[in-house]
Amino acid sequence: MILVTGGAGFIGANFVLNWLADSGAEGIVNIDKLTYAGNLANLQTLQNDARHIFVHGDIGDKALIAKILVEYRPRAIVNFAAESHVDRSIHGPAEFIQTNIVGTFNLLECAREYWGALQGGDKERFRFHHVSTDEVYGSLSLADPAFTETNPYEPNSPYSASKAASDHLVRAWFHTYGFPVVTTNCSNNYGPYHFPEKLIPLVILNALNGKPLPVYGDGQQIRDWLYVGDHCSAIREVLDKGRLGETYNIGGWNEKANLDVVKTICGILDELRPRADGKPYAEQITFVTDRPGHDRRYAIDASKIEKELGWRPAETFDTGIRKTVQWYLDQPEWVEGVVTGSYRDWLEKQYRH
Ligand code: NAD
Ligand code: DAU
Repeated sequence: MILVTGGAGFIGANFVLNWLADSGAEGIVNIDKLTYAGNLANLQTLQNDARHIFVHGDIGDKALIAKILVEYRPRAIVNFAAESHVDRSIHGPAEFIQTNIVGTFNLLECAREYWGALQGGDKERFRFHHVSTDEVYGSLSLADPAFTETNPYEPNSPYSASKAASDHLVRAWFHTYGFPVVTTNCSNNYGPYHFPEKLIPLVILNALNGKPLPVYGDGQQIRDWLYVGDHCSAIREVLDKGRLGETYNIGGWNEKANLDVVKTICGILDELRPRADGKPYAEQITFVTDRPGHDRRYAIDASKIEKELGWRPAETFDTGIRKTVQWYLDQPEWVEGVVTGSYRDWLEKQYRH
């Protein structure tokens, strides 16, 4: 088995689905707290798949994590669980400190104890894979080269500071205890099951609902977009072949200004689902107050993972964004569950008895 944390969220769920799509794959124990960002509808297709074991719980719960490790004896842990939204971290940083820092610390300690008791090949094989972000490196100017793994950490938001802290803990557990870790720092993901608080799904759904498309500031902030399936394949490569104690940057070589991303989505929707009045969706674009401390540009230099492990993204932005828009058009039930909040009722239904 492997243990995945946060596997009911956007990237975690894609990872679990992608992993189990292979009929010969090992099973997954998936622990998720089911915060507002966790959605079991993302995993609905696994309902009858005995290889997927879901545990509703918190990575900060030491007793629960220890019990899971003893019971399922995973050969690896992939840690996705986190508070992930920058805007929410500005409004309320406490949960970010709790889950991203204290939660990761708890997970590391439980995992270290478990690993310490393993013997021989099991011990040698064990991996703790920490999933992190390019935001830990701070902000680039237009002229700066893309982030490499040796860039200094300069996090600017409560979210990125909490992720940076967790990365440091993971690093220290390797250097101090010899605990077998790998860390990946990835750029902005997009794709199926993305919660519509983030730019791309928010714009798709607001456009379809005739709502304004909010662009922060001048819309010239740059992000490096990666299709989520490519992030999952990169994690699998690193888990499989990454060198212990190393960090690997993952990115799509797809730098785009936010305003261009929004216009691209509008153009695809004009084609696939034209507005009833025949006008372009771009008319709904609305410039709004900028995010405080908004990082101007992120860009990932993904040469290390490419050279060492032979990984490259399969999707370009053009192919990935088209697939993504089409996915949202094809999933009215998922969208409705999220927009109305009814996806949260699952907990009540499931645990009532
Ligand atoms: P998400 O917010 O969609 O999902 C996070 C999941 O973690 C949710 O299912 C939530 O219920 C769960 N969770 C939160 N607190 C928990 C806790 N204490 N215990 C157990 N589960 C908990 O996030 P995402 O976008 O899927 O991101 C996953 C990971 O990837 C995060 O660590 C994030 O920092 C990192 N990352 C995200 C991106 C991106 O573009 N989304 C890019 C790079 C790295
Ligand atoms: O870079 C990786 C990071 O990407 C991950 O670590 C984070 O978990 C993930 O949320 C994402 O962070 P961003 O802040 O870049 O993503 P978000 O989708 O919130 O915003 C993308 C850009 O779009 C950013 O420059 C802010 C802008 N934006 C966002 C929203 C929600 C808007 O202009 N309008 C909006 O309404």
